[in-house]
Amino acid sequence: MSVTVIVGSQWGDEGKGKIVDILSERYDIVVRYQGGANAGHTVLVGDNQFILHLIPSGILRENTVCVIGNGVVIDPKALLEEINLLESLGINIKNRLYISQNAHLIMPYHKLLDSISESGANKIGTTGRGIGPCYIDKYARKGIKIVDLLDSNVLEEKIKINIEEKNNLLRKVYNHDEMDVDEITKEYLEFDKIIDQYITDVPSFLNTAIAEGKSVLLEGAQGTLLDVDHGTYPFVTSSNPTSGGACTGSGIPPTKIDSVIGIVKAYTTRVGLGPFPTELSDDMGSKLREVGAEYGATTGRPRRCGWYDAYMLNYSRMINGIERAAITKLDVLSNLDEIKVCVAYEINGKKLKSYPTDVNQMMLVKPVYEILPSWKTDISKIKYYDDLPPEAKDYLSFISQQSGFEICFISVGPQRQQTIEL
Ligand code: IMP
Repeated sequence: MSVTVIVGSQWGDEGKGKIVDILSERYDIVVRYQGGANAGHTVLVGDNQFILHLIPSGILRENTVCVIGNGVVIDPKALLEEINLLESLGINIKNRLYISQNAHLIMPYHKLLDSISESGANKIGTTGRGIGPCYIDKYARKGIKIVDLLDSNVLEEKIKINIEEKNNLLRKVYNHDEMDVDEITKEYLEFDKIIDQYITDVPSFLNTAIAEGKSVLLEGAQGTLLDVDHGTYPFVTSSNPTSGGACTGSGIPPTKIDSVIGIVKAYTTRVGLGPFPTELSDDMGSKLREVGAEYGATTGRPRRCGWYDAYMLNYSRMINGIERAAITKLDVLSNLDEIKVCVAYEINGKKLKSYPTDVNQMMLVKPVYEILPSWKTDISKIKYYDDLPPEAKDYLSFISQQSGFEICFISVGPQRQQTIEL
């Protein structure tokens, strides 16, 4: 049995939810390893659309066990909403959902500080879900963890200390109203009553399951270029969506990981600020946005759209160790006049030798394109690779060769059955 990591290979929103949903049928356990309710995985089952922010989309398969790892930052409000939604849909989550005792809690002051920070000079275009401030507290060793919910005295004390400090900041630096300790403590003790039953020693649970031969799918949120270490810093999220994050965020050691699958959109999108070399600010960008329904699943923001960037994907493949990729939304490129693929970056007419990690350099790069013909037919009902039009096959083989991975899935529409497996 295998342990597989799924990573977003671009700037997130690659369609991971759908591929994880398909793959989760083949795995015993699905684990989310970083990020928080900033992610939004849209999954269509029949006519029902689900957007899950925290709980792995594997929860929609009745035999799959789902785990939220220590690398995730949990907003209890968002988690409870999701639990309630799933229960209202008749989906049983008892004994199917496990939450790491070491995951950190998003507190009301994290969301407030996120929005205050976004109104200043260091604007990133965040989702406003308190992600950055929560990870700041985690790394400053001030965070409140899920395990703290188990002891009301510990919880109260930690909230008190944190709020005193945050109130100082709010009053003195931001001239903002203070937050109320009692109100927040009461609210979080209420969450505890519901969340308690799911709290687990996740590393022991997962490593025992692997030793017993169970298969595990580790699901990253966001994408490689949003990684705090390997992305387009500072325009990134505050965690490690890359495959390395799967180990630290779950407690599964690197020696137990068998393979890494990259989820790769057939073109590129980005939400929020930051460099985007192949961005299309013209009618073609609007067309991709409309045809691909490129609006944020969490915030509803229109996504910036552009051509496929094989140069970036090569970097992403290297950082993550991607061997196989699932290409999503290929149908969106049907009926275009031509399709461009970025194969290199240039600055002042000179080709770069390696992917730039400095955002100022990124802002200067010019993409070097190869132009390919589009296919003028609807491919959304095609079930087998052999039935794809030759131009679509050429496009796939070009991006696979330029990016350095094999293709294992091709998605041609949002439904489960609109997927070609190779
Ligand atoms: P944060 O994660 O809310 O702090 O936002 C930091 C950056 O990551 C912003 O540019 C967001 O738009 C982006 N981001 C966060 N989550 C997602 C996601 O799930 N998909 C795409 N972009 C995201």
